[in-house]
Amino acid sequence: MFQFTHHWRRKRYALYAAPYDVLAIPYTAARRRAAEVAAVSSHHRVLVIGAGTGLDLEWLPPAATVHVVDVSRTMLRRAGKRAERLGAATFATVMDAGSLGYPDSVFDRVILHLVLTVVPNPEDVIAESCRVVRPDGLVSIMDKFIPDATRPTACRVAANAVISFVLSDITLRLQPLAAGAGLRVRMRERYLWGHCDVVLLEPV
Ligand SMILES: C[S@@+](CC[C@H](N)C(=O)[O-])C[C@H]1O[C@@H](n2cnc3c(N)ncnc32)[C@H](O)[C@@H]1O
Repeated sequence: MFQFTHHWRRKRYALYAAPYDVLAIPYTAARRRAAEVAAVSSHHRVLVIGAGTGLDLEWLPPAATVHVVDVSRTMLRRAGKRAERLGAATFATVMDAGSLGYPDSVFDRVILHLVLTVVPNPEDVIAESCRVVRPDGLVSIMDKFIPDATRPTACRVAANAVISFVLSDITLRLQPLAAGAGLRVRMRERYLWGHCDVVLLEPV
């Protein structure tokens, strides 16, 4: 069962790649806002983790140095085509977000959009983001979290067993994740009627 789940987690995005851009349309306003507050400039070095089809590239200055990583080769191919169309200087690598092949403190911005809720190890992924971002850098998150002051109900935990298998985890809280990685919340806004958080984190 573990083998199957592991395989499915890695392979499902090859299936989602074709319709992905249409499915992600509801997140456009949140994505635009995330780019605005992250304020990426042309001289920045940026890492987009779990880049998918590269929708975030649309909102980054084409002259910025952007590294995109993803476990799905199919997704990365699409991100590469988008970068080419945008004339963006992009380096694409198949890589696991929980074990990044970069030295410490090398990126001005790390973008983690709709990723923490789809990986089995969000604690590792956010810790890796903190490791590779510069001390004066920022981590941009766009995702679905439950309020920090609540605990997921038993009903939600049960539903999550199914929903997280095909879509994403619906039991994650941002604050414990960020604090555990040594990051603090600089800004947090809610979009999509409270179903999507736009967050900017900074190293403590
Ligand atoms: C919901 S999509 C989000 C794509 C993009 N970040 C966006 O905002 O549109 C999740 C992406 O994370 C990738 N992913 C899932 N698990 C991963 C992992 N362990 N390491 C790197 N990428 C991963 C998937 O292949 C997929 O492209």
